Amino acid sequence: MENKKVLTLLLGSPRIGGNTENLADALAEGASEKGYEIKKVHLAALTLKGCTDCRKCWSTGKPCILNDDMDQVYPEIEDASVIAFVSPLYFYSWSSQIKPVWDRLIPYYMPGALRTTPSKKAILLAAAGDKEDFAFDGLRASFKLTANFLGWKILGEVCAPDLYFKGDIETKGTKWIEEAKKLGLSL
Ligand SMILES: Cc1cc2nc3c(=O)[nH]c(=O)nc-3n(C[C@H](O)[C@H](O)[C@H](O)COP(=O)(O)O)c2cc1C
Repeated sequence: MENKKVLTLLLGSPRIGGNTENLADALAEGASEKGYEIKKVHLAALTLKGCTDCRKCWSTGKPCILNDDMDQVYPEIEDASVIAFVSPLYFYSWSSQIKPVWDRLIPYYMPGALRTTPSKKAILLAAAGDKEDFAFDGLRASFKLTANFLGWKILGEVCAPDLYFKGDIETKGTKWIEEAKKLGLSL
């Protein structure tokens, strides 16, 4: 179990083949070379409701009582050794496609949880239109504080600014692609 090498990419962009997916693919390329199995989850293709704070986690035997596509995402999270949270910067925060995943991790941290996720490792990949690196400050703080709360080890991040249009990463973001591959190779 300890030596399991599964990298799960939780893709929060609605753009297929967009800037953040390119970062994720580069991370995956590096990680594959290090023997990782790669799993890609396009969250925008799923129906993910927000947490309703019903405090009924596990009451039906599964993490959450809501019946939606989180039923597919929970096993991917449980099976992963490394999880990459991959998000475009939307109003200085997570995209609405990925935010429900964060909120719905709460069952694993409720008293009486049937399963927990103590030993996960996490990576942040993000892209933004803004030119300044400080645009990512809010996202970074959320990522760091949440990973710390969950007890997950942070392995690294690639936050790529100045990428607004689809394809920008291929013309002016190659540096970030290389960074993401390097991070994958470091796993
Ligand atoms: C709804 C929305 C909100 C956005 N908010 C921001 C923002 O707050 N700051 C920023 O720098 N870019 C913002 N952007 C631009 C995206 O972060 C940028 O286009 C990014 O490269 C998209 O990544 P993707 O191609 O993987 O979807 C926003 C884009 C959209 C559609």
